[in-house]
Amino acid sequence: TQHITIAIDGFSSCGKSTLAKALAKKMNYTFIDSGAMYRCVALYAIQNGCALGAHKINLTCVVNSLPQIHIQFGEADELGNRPVLLNGEDVSHAIRQLEVANIVSEVAAIREVREFLVEQQQELGKNGGVVMDGRDIGTVVFPHAELKLFITAKPEIRAQRRFLELQAKGEINSLGEILENLKHRDRIDSTRAISPLTQAKDALVVDNSEMSETEQLEYVMNLVKNHT
Ligand code: C5P
Repeated sequence: TQHITIAIDGFSSCGKSTLAKALAKKMNYTFIDSGAMYRCVALYAIQNGCALGAHKINLTCVVNSLPQIHIQFGEADELGNRPVLLNGEDVSHAIRQLEVANIVSEVAAIREVREFLVEQQQELGKNGGVVMDGRDIGTVVFPHAELKLFITAKPEIRAQRRFLELQAKGEINSLGEILENLKHRDRIDSTRAISPLTQAKDALVVDNSEMSETEQLEYVMNLVKNHT
């Protein structure tokens, strides 16, 4: 069978990575979480003193730190999760903190950061057989992907899902705080000058507000069948 490229884009906490992971596992493809790469740069920025509080960063500081940032993905576990390594250290948990989420969109709006990561993403996916999720995968990273999905869900449902996810990891945040962060990131991600989050013309829209993870996977597997 042909090894296609599957691009999955959409707003924050729409279940993109959950879907991407499940899809990659089912198809024996490689899953790449591009958001984790932006989160690594944001985490490094915090560690390096480039963060000036929520939603504030020192741009020059972030750009200057790029040559010191080396990102790798480890082998997938049985759920399809891949450890994320920042300069050899496992940061899979650290990059999910709200502190990182609070500056990641500002970091991702920097042209140099995007150029730095897009090049690596294209390299990781150059042989196909890849499911990559993010914001600009179908538009910028893989404009020729055979299958492009644009995932959406209602903001309140997304906040609720993220709340449960963080809670399961022992992180207690208020639902309101999470909803605020989501809306903030949605706004920055879709209005930034460089590669804003937009639906590719040839993307198929999947609204999963009312779908379970299993239903969504089934639905998407049917779309995949028509594209391979
Ligand atoms: O997907 P996730 O929510 O982990 O991504 C974190 C942030 O990284 C997003 O809010 C967005 O600002 C940025 N991002 C991006 N382009 C991508 C993936 C993520 O700008 N392809």
